[in-house]
Amino acid sequence: MAMKVALLGCGAVGSEVVRLVDEQRSELATRAGTALEIAGVAVRRPERARGLPIDPALFTTDAMELATRPDVDIVVEVIGGIEPARSLTLAAIKAGKSVVTANKALLAEDGEAIHSAARAAGVDVYYEASVAGAIPLLRPLRDSLAGDRVQAVLGIVNGTTNYILDRMDSLGAGFAESLEEAQSLGYAEADPTADVEGFDAAAKAAILARLAFHTEVSAADVHREGITEVTAGDIASARDMGCVVKLLAICQRSADGSVGVRVHPAMLPREHPLANVNGAYNAVFVEAESAGRLMFYGAGAGGTPTASAVLGDIVAVSRNRLAEAQVVDSGGNGETRRVHPMGE
Ligand code: HSE
Repeated sequence: MAMKVALLGCGAVGSEVVRLVDEQRSELATRAGTALEIAGVAVRRPERARGLPIDPALFTTDAMELATRPDVDIVVEVIGGIEPARSLTLAAIKAGKSVVTANKALLAEDGEAIHSAARAAGVDVYYEASVAGAIPLLRPLRDSLAGDRVQAVLGIVNGTTNYILDRMDSLGAGFAESLEEAQSLGYAEADPTADVEGFDAAAKAAILARLAFHTEVSAADVHREGITEVTAGDIASARDMGCVVKLLAICQRSADGSVGVRVHPAMLPREHPLANVNGAYNAVFVEAESAGRLMFYGAGAGGTPTASAVLGDIVAVSRNRLAEAQVVDSGGNGETRRVHPMGE
């Protein structure tokens, strides 16, 4: 029996998910343990989603009906923003669907409500695509480092601002034209204010801090400053000092156990590894007591790289649902329902 996937949103990321599900059909079926079938795609304007390898009859404007439809197993939310994404996600969870989401703004604002709803419903919420695009970062933080004490997470987590600062530094390009390029390449948020004012990076920092330090952190806890005040003069002065300007997300645990999270532009010496992270690439340093320093690097934005992370999550939750079904089929007591819970 196929795993039925409902897609909410079909922009830069959603359309790539549709394309890759079609292109990698048999490999994905092997990895997920069963065929993945797109059961429907919720979009505001179906005419804009033409040209995808999918039956046009699967497009709907009724996202709530699709998210809660009885035959759907997994809901993939790539709409972004707070509403209607929050209502749709909570309704899907309540209806027993596993959720895969790329929505950092929602998780940073209301992560606790979403994770506790998922715990109550016994379903997964996976969100690897919400931070640093294609880079496998959240599961390593949550799982691989579960036996360690993370002290700090420091990185470049917004591709749009990194692209802009990079173009301003290397080509002397202007802010507005660099932003336009980032938008045309599919890096920027629908409203690029979220990128350039640091809201996107702050949301990602909150998610990273929550996983790294096992404590509640929301976007409101993050000190935030964007790059709109960074001038060509600042960049030239930094260059004269052998430095580059980068927008950094910094999450630290102090000796007294308190957690500080902030996002702001910073000058980095050119020989610093983060200084050489260019274009829409992201890089994140993690410093842990036993593991020492780790660095994660890769494409942090863009439809195809982000779709890779979404698909990885779809495969993971599909495996979990199959494992759960086996436990139920074999008369298990349900205590081993999920083999890889992510949200808690
Ligand atoms: N707008 C985001 C960025 C997309 O530029 O990094 C990926 O989250």
